[in-house]
Amino acid sequence: MIDHNKLDVAVTASVEKLQSLFGTAPEVAVVLGSGWAGAVSHVRDAKNLSYAELPAFPQPKVEGHVNEIVVGKIGAQRVIFLRGRAHTYESGECTGMAGALRTLKRWGVRVLVQTNASGSLRGHMPPGSLMLIADHINAPQRSPLVGEQGSQRFVDMVNAYDAELRKHALALAKRENLMLGEGTYCWALGPQFETPAEIRMFAAWGADAVGMSTVPETILARHAGLKVMGIALMTNMAAGLSAEALTHDLTLKQAQMSGERASAFLAALVASLKEVAL
Ligand code: HPA
Repeated sequence: MIDHNKLDVAVTASVEKLQSLFGTAPEVAVVLGSGWAGAVSHVRDAKNLSYAELPAFPQPKVEGHVNEIVVGKIGAQRVIFLRGRAHTYESGECTGMAGALRTLKRWGVRVLVQTNASGSLRGHMPPGSLMLIADHINAPQRSPLVGEQGSQRFVDMVNAYDAELRKHALALAKRENLMLGEGTYCWALGPQFETPAEIRMFAAWGADAVGMSTVPETILARHAGLKVMGIALMTNMAAGLSAEALTHDLTLKQAQMSGERASAFLAALVASLKEVAL
Protein backbone atom coordinates (compact mmCIF):
# COMPACT_ATOMS: atom_id res chain seq x y z
CA MET A 1 0.00 0.00 0.00
CA ILE A 2 1.16 3.55 -0.75
CA ASP A 3 2.60 5.75 2.02
CA HIS A 4 0.72 8.86 0.92
CA ASN A 5 2.71 11.45 2.87
CA LYS A 6 6.02 10.14 1.60
CA LEU A 7 4.74 9.84 -1.96
CA ASP A 8 3.32 13.35 -1.90
CA VAL A 9 6.69 14.84 -0.88
CA ALA A 10 8.40 12.85 -3.64
CA VAL A 11 5.82 13.94 -6.25
CA THR A 12 6.16 17.62 -5.26
CA ALA A 13 9.95 17.44 -5.54
CA SER A 14 9.72 15.61 -8.89
CA VAL A 15 7.27 18.15 -10.36
CA GLU A 16 9.56 21.01 -9.25
CA LYS A 17 12.54 19.33 -10.88
CA LEU A 18 10.68 18.77 -14.17
CA GLN A 19 9.37 22.33 -14.17
CA SER A 20 12.79 23.81 -13.51
CA LEU A 21 14.47 21.75 -16.25
CA PHE A 22 11.78 21.62 -18.92
CA GLY A 23 9.26 24.39 -18.15
CA THR A 24 5.60 23.64 -18.79
CA ALA A 25 4.58 20.02 -19.23
CA PRO A 26 4.17 18.34 -22.61
CA GLU A 27 0.59 17.21 -23.15
CA VAL A 28 1.66 13.68 -24.02
CA ALA A 29 3.60 11.10 -22.01
CA VAL A 30 4.62 7.70 -23.36
CA VAL A 31 5.70 4.67 -21.36
CA LEU A 32 8.08 2.63 -23.47
CA GLY A 33 7.92 -1.15 -23.07
CA SER A 34 10.27 -3.81 -24.46
CA GLY A 35 10.93 -3.22 -28.15
CA TRP A 36 9.71 0.36 -28.20
CA ALA A 37 12.94 2.16 -27.26
CA GLY A 38 13.57 3.15 -30.90
CA ALA A 39 10.80 5.74 -30.62
CA VAL A 40 13.27 7.94 -28.76
CA SER A 41 15.34 8.34 -31.96
CA HIS A 42 12.40 10.30 -33.47
CA VAL A 43 12.59 12.98 -30.75
CA ARG A 44 14.05 16.38 -31.67
CA ASP A 45 15.85 18.53 -29.10
CA ALA A 46 15.84 15.52 -26.80
CA LYS A 47 16.89 16.03 -23.20
CA ASN A 48 17.41 13.04 -20.95
CA LEU A 49 17.15 12.74 -17.20
CA SER A 50 17.71 9.64 -15.10
CA TYR A 51 14.88 8.40 -12.89
CA ALA A 52 17.46 8.67 -10.10
CA GLU A 53 16.94 12.48 -10.27
CA LEU A 54 13.17 12.12 -9.79
CA PRO A 55 12.34 10.77 -6.31
CA ALA A 56 8.77 9.76 -7.22
CA PHE A 57 9.97 7.62 -10.13
CA PRO A 58 10.81 3.89 -9.80
CA GLN A 59 14.21 2.36 -10.33
CA PRO A 60 13.24 -0.84 -12.21
CA LYS A 61 15.90 -3.33 -13.25
CA VAL A 62 14.51 -5.49 -16.06
CA GLU A 63 16.98 -6.35 -18.80
CA GLY A 64 16.23 -4.32 -21.91
CA HIS A 65 15.10 -1.22 -20.02
CA VAL A 66 16.93 2.03 -19.35
CA ASN A 67 15.59 4.11 -16.51
CA GLU A 68 15.31 7.64 -17.77
CA ILE A 69 12.93 10.19 -19.17
CA VAL A 70 13.43 11.82 -22.55
CA VAL A 71 11.72 15.17 -23.16
CA GLY A 72 11.50 16.78 -26.59
CA LYS A 73 9.36 17.17 -29.68
CA ILE A 74 8.05 14.90 -32.43
CA GLY A 75 6.69 17.07 -35.22
CA ALA A 76 4.94 19.90 -33.42
CA GLN A 77 3.98 17.75 -30.42
CA ARG A 78 5.96 18.02 -27.19
CA VAL A 79 6.36 14.69 -25.46
CA ILE A 80 7.94 13.00 -22.47
CA PHE A 81 9.03 9.39 -22.84
CA LEU A 82 9.41 7.15 -19.82
CA ARG A 83 12.01 4.50 -20.52
CA GLY A 84 11.51 1.81 -17.90
CA ARG A 85 8.56 0.89 -15.71
CA ALA A 86 8.21 -0.90 -12.39
CA HIS A 87 6.59 -4.30 -12.86
CA THR A 88 4.50 -5.92 -10.15
CA TYR A 89 6.52 -9.13 -10.50
CA GLU A 90 9.65 -7.30 -9.31
CA SER A 91 8.39 -6.47 -5.83
CA GLY A 92 4.90 -7.90 -5.44
CA GLU A 93 3.64 -4.29 -5.27
CA CYS A 94 1.45 -3.03 -8.11
CA THR A 95 1.86 0.61 -7.01
CA GLY A 96 5.36 1.08 -8.45
CA MET A 97 4.32 3.63 -11.09
CA ALA A 98 2.02 5.66 -8.81
CA GLY A 99 4.57 8.39 -8.07
CA ALA A 100 5.65 8.78 -11.68
CA LEU A 101 2.09 8.99 -13.02
CA ARG A 102 0.93 11.41 -10.32
CA THR A 103 3.99 13.54 -11.06
CA LEU A 104 3.05 13.64 -14.76
CA LYS A 105 -0.53 14.62 -13.95
CA ARG A 106 0.46 17.33 -11.47
CA TRP A 107 3.04 18.71 -13.89
CA GLY A 108 0.28 19.09 -16.51
CA VAL A 109 0.47 16.04 -18.79
CA ARG A 110 -2.95 15.09 -20.22
CA VAL A 111 -2.49 11.82 -22.12
CA LEU A 112 -0.59 8.66 -21.21
CA VAL A 113 0.33 6.39 -24.12
CA GLN A 114 1.33 2.96 -22.87
CA THR A 115 3.35 0.50 -24.92
CA ASN A 116 4.29 -3.06 -24.09
CA ALA A 117 5.39 -6.42 -25.42
CA SER A 118 2.72 -9.11 -25.31
CA GLY A 119 1.97 -12.69 -26.19
CA SER A 120 -0.71 -13.09 -28.85
CA LEU A 121 -3.76 -15.29 -28.32
CA ARG A 122 -4.99 -14.84 -31.89
CA GLY A 123 -3.70 -16.38 -35.09
CA HIS A 124 -4.49 -13.22 -37.05
CA MET A 125 -2.00 -11.32 -34.83
CA PRO A 126 1.30 -13.19 -35.32
CA PRO A 127 4.58 -12.04 -33.70
CA GLY A 128 5.44 -8.59 -35.00
CA SER A 129 1.80 -7.42 -35.05
CA LEU A 130 0.58 -4.37 -33.21
CA MET A 131 -2.65 -4.31 -31.23
CA LEU A 132 -4.42 -1.21 -30.04
CA ILE A 133 -5.68 -1.94 -26.54
CA ALA A 134 -9.44 -1.42 -26.47
CA ASP A 135 -10.00 -2.87 -23.01
CA HIS A 136 -8.24 -4.97 -20.41
CA ILE A 137 -8.76 -7.90 -18.06
CA ASN A 138 -7.21 -7.54 -14.62
CA ALA A 139 -6.73 -11.30 -14.16
CA PRO A 140 -4.80 -11.08 -10.86
CA GLN A 141 -7.53 -8.74 -9.55
CA ARG A 142 -4.89 -6.57 -7.92
CA SER A 143 -5.45 -2.83 -7.58
CA PRO A 144 -2.89 -0.09 -7.00
CA LEU A 145 -5.73 1.93 -5.44
CA VAL A 146 -6.20 -0.28 -2.37
CA GLY A 147 -6.04 2.04 0.64
CA GLU A 148 -6.96 5.20 -1.30
CA GLN A 149 -9.59 7.40 0.35
CA GLY A 150 -12.52 9.29 -1.11
CA SER A 151 -15.10 8.55 -3.76
CA GLN A 152 -12.53 9.21 -6.50
CA ARG A 153 -11.11 5.74 -5.80
CA PHE A 154 -14.18 4.14 -7.43
CA VAL A 155 -12.78 4.74 -10.88
CA ASP A 156 -15.02 4.16 -13.91
CA MET A 157 -13.13 1.74 -16.15
CA VAL A 158 -15.53 1.91 -19.11
CA ASN A 159 -13.55 3.47 -21.94
CA ALA A 160 -10.44 3.42 -19.75
CA TYR A 161 -8.64 3.33 -23.10
CA ASP A 162 -10.02 6.56 -24.51
CA ALA A 163 -12.54 5.91 -27.30
CA GLU A 164 -11.77 9.12 -29.22
CA LEU A 165 -8.03 8.50 -29.11
CA ARG A 166 -8.53 4.91 -30.26
CA LYS A 167 -10.57 6.11 -33.22
CA HIS A 168 -7.79 8.54 -34.03
CA ALA A 169 -5.08 5.82 -33.81
CA LEU A 170 -7.04 3.43 -36.05
CA ALA A 171 -7.55 6.15 -38.65
CA LEU A 172 -3.85 7.00 -38.59
CA ALA A 173 -2.89 3.32 -39.00
CA LYS A 174 -5.21 3.11 -42.02
CA ARG A 175 -3.61 6.23 -43.55
CA GLU A 176 -0.15 4.75 -42.96
CA ASN A 177 -1.15 1.34 -44.36
CA LEU A 178 -0.30 -0.35 -41.08
CA MET A 179 -2.25 -3.35 -39.82
CA LEU A 180 -3.47 -2.34 -36.39
CA GLY A 181 -5.75 -4.79 -34.67
CA GLU A 182 -7.87 -3.73 -31.72
CA GLY A 183 -8.36 -6.05 -28.80
CA THR A 184 -8.40 -6.90 -25.13
CA TYR A 185 -5.18 -7.09 -23.13
CA CYS A 186 -5.05 -9.51 -20.22
CA TRP A 187 -2.65 -8.81 -17.36
CA ALA A 188 -0.81 -11.83 -15.94
CA LEU A 189 1.29 -11.20 -12.85
CA GLY A 190 4.38 -13.16 -13.96
CA PRO A 191 7.33 -13.35 -13.88
CA GLN A 192 6.70 -16.94 -15.03
CA PHE A 193 4.99 -17.23 -18.40
CA GLU A 194 1.45 -18.60 -18.43
CA THR A 195 0.46 -22.24 -18.74
CA PRO A 196 -1.41 -23.35 -21.88
CA ALA A 197 -4.47 -23.94 -19.67
CA GLU A 198 -4.32 -20.34 -18.42
CA ILE A 199 -4.06 -19.09 -21.99
CA ARG A 200 -7.10 -21.18 -23.01
CA MET A 201 -8.99 -19.63 -20.07
CA PHE A 202 -7.92 -16.07 -20.99
CA ALA A 203 -8.98 -16.71 -24.60
CA ALA A 204 -12.38 -17.95 -23.42
CA TRP A 205 -12.69 -14.75 -21.36
CA GLY A 206 -12.15 -12.72 -24.52
CA ALA A 207 -8.48 -11.81 -24.19
CA ASP A 208 -6.50 -11.23 -27.38
CA ALA A 209 -3.09 -10.51 -25.86
CA VAL A 210 -1.36 -11.26 -22.58
CA GLY A 211 1.41 -9.44 -20.76
CA MET A 212 2.87 -8.54 -17.39
CA SER A 213 2.34 -4.78 -17.24
CA THR A 214 0.11 -1.89 -18.30
CA VAL A 215 -3.04 -2.66 -16.27
CA PRO A 216 -1.88 -1.20 -12.92
CA GLU A 217 -0.65 1.92 -14.75
CA THR A 218 -3.95 2.35 -16.59
CA ILE A 219 -5.83 2.16 -13.28
CA LEU A 220 -3.46 4.67 -11.66
CA ALA A 221 -3.63 6.99 -14.68
CA ARG A 222 -7.43 6.95 -14.81
CA HIS A 223 -7.56 7.63 -11.07
CA ALA A 224 -5.18 10.56 -11.59
CA GLY A 225 -7.35 11.89 -14.42
CA LEU A 226 -5.06 11.13 -17.36
CA LYS A 227 -6.49 9.91 -20.66
CA VAL A 228 -4.97 6.57 -21.65
CA MET A 229 -4.07 4.92 -24.90
CA GLY A 230 -2.27 1.55 -25.19
CA ILE A 231 -0.47 -0.33 -27.94
CA ALA A 232 0.83 -3.88 -27.55
CA LEU A 233 3.59 -5.35 -29.72
CA MET A 234 3.14 -9.11 -30.16
CA THR A 235 6.50 -10.76 -29.53
CA ASN A 236 5.32 -14.37 -29.49
CA MET A 237 2.29 -16.62 -29.66
CA ALA A 238 1.06 -17.19 -26.10
CA ALA A 239 1.84 -20.43 -24.26
CA GLY A 240 0.59 -23.57 -26.00
CA LEU A 241 -0.23 -21.77 -29.26
CA SER A 242 3.11 -22.42 -30.96
CA ALA A 243 5.80 -25.08 -30.86
CA GLU A 244 8.42 -22.49 -29.91
CA ALA A 245 9.59 -22.51 -26.27
CA LEU A 246 8.79 -19.25 -24.48
CA THR A 247 11.81 -17.40 -23.15
CA HIS A 248 12.56 -13.81 -22.22
CA ASP A 249 15.30 -13.88 -24.90
CA LEU A 250 12.76 -14.84 -27.57
CA THR A 251 10.47 -11.97 -26.60
CA LEU A 252 13.39 -9.51 -26.57
CA LYS A 253 14.64 -10.75 -29.96
CA GLN A 254 11.22 -10.44 -31.59
CA ALA A 255 10.74 -7.06 -29.91
CA GLN A 256 14.01 -5.88 -31.45
CA MET A 257 13.06 -7.28 -34.89
CA SER A 258 9.71 -5.49 -35.03
CA GLY A 259 10.65 -2.60 -32.82
CA GLU A 260 11.64 -0.21 -35.57
CA ARG A 261 8.28 -0.35 -37.38
CA ALA A 262 6.40 -0.18 -34.08
CA SER A 263 8.46 2.80 -32.95
CA ALA A 264 7.97 4.63 -36.26
CA PHE A 265 4.20 4.23 -35.90
CA LEU A 266 4.37 5.38 -32.29
CA ALA A 267 6.30 8.48 -33.36
CA ALA A 268 3.72 9.23 -36.07
CA LEU A 269 0.96 8.72 -33.53
CA VAL A 270 2.54 11.12 -31.03
CA ALA A 271 3.04 13.77 -33.73
CA SER A 272 -0.56 13.35 -34.90
CA LEU A 273 -1.94 14.04 -31.42
CA LYS A 274 -1.33 17.70 -32.25
CA GLU A 275 -4.52 17.38 -34.40
CA VAL A 276 -6.60 16.18 -31.45
CA ALA A 277 -8.08 18.16 -28.57
CA LEU A 278 -6.48 16.49 -25.57
N1 HPA B 1 3.09 -13.68 -21.67
C1 HPA B 1 3.26 -12.70 -20.77
N2 HPA B 1 3.99 -11.62 -21.00
C2 HPA B 1 4.57 -11.51 -22.20
C3 HPA B 1 4.45 -12.49 -23.18
C4 HPA B 1 3.66 -13.63 -22.90
O1 HPA B 1 3.50 -14.55 -23.72
N3 HPA B 1 5.17 -12.06 -24.26
C5 HPA B 1 5.69 -10.86 -23.93
N4 HPA B 1 5.34 -10.52 -22.68
